[in-house]
Amino acid sequence: MCISDQPASPLPRGRLAQYGPWAVVTGASDGIGRAFALELAAAGFGVVLAARGKDRLDALAARIAAEGGFAPVVVAGDLATDEGVAALCTATESLDVGLVVCAAGFGTSGPFLDAEEANERDMLRLNCESRMLTTHRFGRRLAARGKGGLVLMSSLVAFQGVPRTAHYAATKAYVQTLAEGLARELAPLGVDVVASAPGPVASGFAARAAMTMGRAEKPEVVARQTLAALGRKTTVRPGLLAKVLEGSLSLLPRAGRVRIMEQVMRGMTGKGHGEESGRRA
Ligand SMILES: NC(=O)c1ccc[n+]([C@@H]2O[C@H](COP(=O)([O-])OP(=O)(O)OC[C@H]3O[C@@H](n4cnc5c(N)ncnc54)[C@H](OP(=O)(O)O)[C@@H]3O)[C@@H](O)[C@H]2O)c1
Repeated sequence: MCISDQPASPLPRGRLAQYGPWAVVTGASDGIGRAFALELAAAGFGVVLAARGKDRLDALAARIAAEGGFAPVVVAGDLATDEGVAALCTATESLDVGLVVCAAGFGTSGPFLDAEEANERDMLRLNCESRMLTTHRFGRRLAARGKGGLVLMSSLVAFQGVPRTAHYAATKAYVQTLAEGLARELAPLGVDVVASAPGPVASGFAARAAMTMGRAEKPEVVARQTLAALGRKTTVRPGLLAKVLEGSLSLLPRAGRVRIMEQVMRGMTGKGHGEESGRRA
């Protein structure tokens, strides 16, 4: 006989329990996804931790278990590939998944024409294609059980073109539009969809995107406020920074917002993106 303190299945508590018992979190090894995983584990969910970095996922799983959370399932793989998405779906087949947080993603910055095509294509695959596949496959599962939640990480940059991060902003516009449409389409099936559109957040994002952030929100604030909005709003702008930035942009026509965001991105990308070499200064 196996004696364990662990209950046979996770038992989420509070308002979020309606989306339990299992939550899949992509991008769980760092930043916002990691914060979602910790928040959900603390609320009693069983969490599936997905990203490429197995060591960091294992360390997070160990921390959650040590803090009394339900033992997480780790699925390490590249979600920018069909195989990675398929492996995540297969690994979770036997779990009663009620919530899916799609946070895996990255950005790029600098003049688009100077960008490496392969890197831009990887970003397009992860931020859009993989997002579509996970949303479609898990969306069907959630609809079949008649209840569920989908969290899609959008961004402040999703609402207008943004020079110097033009392609990243375009991938986020894709996510935002997908979420807005699905929120209406899936509501009658019992599936709540929320797009989370923060401003700058302190995470691994800035380093990979070659951006410099001045003020930045904490990932925990983003996770907490996004989960609080699930089932109540279609789009949430978590954190004070996102609300202030949106407040100052919202009165401008779209073309005006593009120009303001161009100035913002100049400040965040600085030199080293064409200027230093004299290309397209
Ligand atoms: N930080 C911000 O300022 C900000 C603002 C608005 C929106 N967002 C959005 O929020 C989401 C999370 O970003 P973050 O700030 O948390 O960034 P982060 O700290 O860099 O975390 C990104 C996560 O995605 C995972 N990931 C990256 N490439 C992957 C791949 N090919 N396959 C599987 N997992 C992959 C990373 O893990 P591995 O490297 O281990 O794979 C990591 O867990 C992104 O969609 C981003 O666009 C961020």
